[in-house]
Amino acid sequence: MIPQKTVQEILETAKIEEVIQDYVNLRRRGVNMIGLCPFHNEKTPSFTVSPAKNIFKCFGCGKGGDPAKFVMEHEHLTYPDALRYLARKYRIEVEEVKLTPEAVAQQQAEESLYILNDYARQFYQDQLFETDMGKSVGLSYFKGRGFREETIRKFGLGYAPNEQDAFVKKATQTGYKLEFLKKLGLASQYDRDFFRNRVMFTIHNLSGKPIAFAGRIMEKDVKAPKYINSPETEIYVKNKNLYGAFFAKTAIRKADECILVEGYTDVISLHQAGIENVVASSGTSLTDGQIALIKRFTPNIKILYDGDAAGVKAALRGLDMVLEKDMNVRVVLIPDGDDPDSYLQKVGATAFQEFIDKQSQDFILFKTNLLLAETKGDPVKKAGLVRDIVDSISRVPDPFKRSFYVKECARVMELEEAVLVSEANKAVHQILQKRDLDKRKKQEVKINIVPEDGEFPTEVPPDDQGEHSFVAPKPRTAGHEFQERDIARILVEAGEKIYDEEENMTVAEFVLGNIEDVLEDFDNPEYLRIAKEAMQLVLGKSPVTTQYFIGHNDQTISELAVDLLHSPWEYSPGWELHEMYLRSQKKPEENFNKDSLSALLQFKLRKVIRLCEKNQLQMKEVASDDSTQLLRLMKVQMKLNEMRNELMKQLGMVVLK
Ligand code: GTP
Ligand code: MN
Repeated sequence: MIPQKTVQEILETAKIEEVIQDYVNLRRRGVNMIGLCPFHNEKTPSFTVSPAKNIFKCFGCGKGGDPAKFVMEHEHLTYPDALRYLARKYRIEVEEVKLTPEAVAQQQAEESLYILNDYARQFYQDQLFETDMGKSVGLSYFKGRGFREETIRKFGLGYAPNEQDAFVKKATQTGYKLEFLKKLGLASQYDRDFFRNRVMFTIHNLSGKPIAFAGRIMEKDVKAPKYINSPETEIYVKNKNLYGAFFAKTAIRKADECILVEGYTDVISLHQAGIENVVASSGTSLTDGQIALIKRFTPNIKILYDGDAAGVKAALRGLDMVLEKDMNVRVVLIPDGDDPDSYLQKVGATAFQEFIDKQSQDFILFKTNLLLAETKGDPVKKAGLVRDIVDSISRVPDPFKRSFYVKECARVMELEEAVLVSEANKAVHQILQKRDLDKRKKQEVKINIVPEDGEFPTEVPPDDQGEHSFVAPKPRTAGHEFQERDIARILVEAGEKIYDEEENMTVAEFVLGNIEDVLEDFDNPEYLRIAKEAMQLVLGKSPVTTQYFIGHNDQTISELAVDLLHSPWEYSPGWELHEMYLRSQKKPEENFNKDSLSALLQFKLRKVIRLCEKNQLQMKEVASDDSTQLLRLMKVQMKLNEMRNELMKQLGMVVLK
C-alpha cells in the first residue's frame, strides 16, 4: 500500500503534459495543448491537455482525467500501479507500507487531529458571524480591512472570544478529549483557551485540511505578541508549510510563478484581488522545506518586500540558498511604509499588478544594486560586495545563468575585472563551439594538481595574459559544494557501474583513483564521508552499490544518499535552446561516464582556482621591490591560469553532447 502522503506528493508533482508527451505529440494551442487522441482513431486532433488544470480531455471519445487516470487508461494499470508508474517517472520514493496496527492507530490519531481542528475552525467562525462580540470586534475588523464575506469564509477566518475557556468547555462537552486540545495548542496547560480575544486565521495543508491556527491580537498597546500560533504537531510541521499554499497551488502552476509575501493578511488581500498565486512565509525566512514545496509547482519565485532597506538587506541574506536550488528569483520592493496588503488597498488591483510586473528585478542584480549604493567611493566595502555577489552567483547551478550574472554584475559594478567577464565568456564560448566528439571521448584527466609551494617550469607565458594575472579569476565555478555533491551523487548512484570495459574499471574506481590526492579538499564532511567509505569499499574489492549507502547504519548517510538520488539534474531552458543537454539530463542512467569525468574536472578546477587565489594573496603581500619573488609568483600564476583554462576546455568538451 502506498502511504497517503506519497500519493499526495505524486499527484501534486505529476504534470499532465509531461506524462502525456511520453506517448502523444502535443502542440500548443492557446493555453492548452492538443494532439491526436491515443484512445480512439482520429485524423484531426480533438485530444486536449490543460497544463493549468492538470487534466486531459478528448472531445472525440470523451475520455478525460488527471495524470494518474491517463496512465491507468493508457497502460491498462490499476490505480496504485499508475501511481507507482508516476512515482518512478518523477523519482518519488514509494515506501510501500503494510499497515500495522500501530500505523492504523497513527493514521486514526492524525485523522482525529484534523477533525478536532476543523471543529475549532467552525467554532471560531461561528463566533465571528453569530455572536455580538464576534461581529462587533472580529467581523468589523476584517471588513474594515476590506475582506469580503466570501473571502473570510474561504480562508477560514474566525474570532476567539475574550473568555477564559469558552472553547475548551464547549469542545470537551462535545466529547473531545482535553489531551488532544492541549496537543493541538487549542487549550493551555491550565485547561484554558489558548486563543482569546484574537481574530483567527486557519492554516491549511496542501489538501486544504486545517492543521493549525494563528491568532492576531485585537487590543492595542499591550505587550503580548501580535500573532500567536499553534505548536508543531504531527500534522503541522512549520518549516514545511507555507500559508495559503492550498488556495494558491493551481494558480501557481498556471502562472508558472509563486509570489511570496510575509503576512497572512497579504495573502488574503492579494487572493481576493484575483492575484491567487501567492503564499506567505509567515514572517520568517524561507526554509529548505518551503522551497521544495514551491519547487513542486514552479521554479519561479517573486518575492514582495516591504520597502525599508534595513529589513530588506537582512532578508536578502537568507536568499542565496534559493539560488542553490536552481530557482529563478525576482524581487519587488513595496514602497516605503506599506506592505503588499496596504499597498494593494491603496492603489487597487490593476495598478498593483502592473507595479509588481514592472518593478520586479532579478534577485542577484537587485542585490548588487542595493549593496552598491552603500559602497560609493569606498574600495574596501566594494571589495566586500564583490565577494558577496560572486558568492551568490557561484551558487547558481546552471552555468549559463552563472555566466549571465557574471557579465551583468560586472557591468553594474563597473568593475575593471573585464577579465572576469571575458573568462566566463570564453568558457561559455568553448562550450558552444567545441563540438568535437572525438576529443570528448578522452577519458583520462591529465591534470596534476600542483603542490602549493610547487616549482614551475620557467618558460615565459604568452604576453597577453601577463597583465591580467593579478586579477582574481572567478570563473563559472567559484568554489562550491555542488561539485562535491556531484561526486558523491555519482558514487552513490553509479559507483558499481562499469566505466571502462577494457580495463574492467568501475565508475567508483575511476572517480576515486583520480581524486585520491585531493580528498582532503572536500569542504563538506558528509560528502567526504561518502567518498571515503566508497574508497574503503574499493580497497576491499567490494562493489560500491547504491544499496550500501541507502541501507547504511548511519542515518545521516542513508538520508543523504536518498537525497542525492532524488535530485537529478534537470533541464534548464538555456540548454534546451542551444540544443544541448547538460550531462545526465536525458538519460541519467546511461550517462554516468560523462558525469564522472565532468564532476572530476569541476572538482579539480576548483582546486586550481583555490591555488590561484592563494597565490594572488601572496603576490599582494610580497614587497614591491622584491622582483625575484614577484616574478616567481607571477609565473606560478601563469601556470595556474593555463591549467585552469585547460580544465575549462575539457569541461567544455565533456558538457557537450
Ligand atoms: P497586519 O498587522 O494585521 O497587517 O498583519 P501582517 O500580516 O501584515 O503583519 P506583519 O507585517 O507585522 O508581520 C508579517 C507576518 O509575520 C505575520 O503575518 C505573521 O506571520 C508574522 N508575525 C508578525 N508578528 C508576529 C508575532 O508577534 N509572532 C509571530 N509568531 N509571528 C508574527
Ligand atoms: Mn499588514
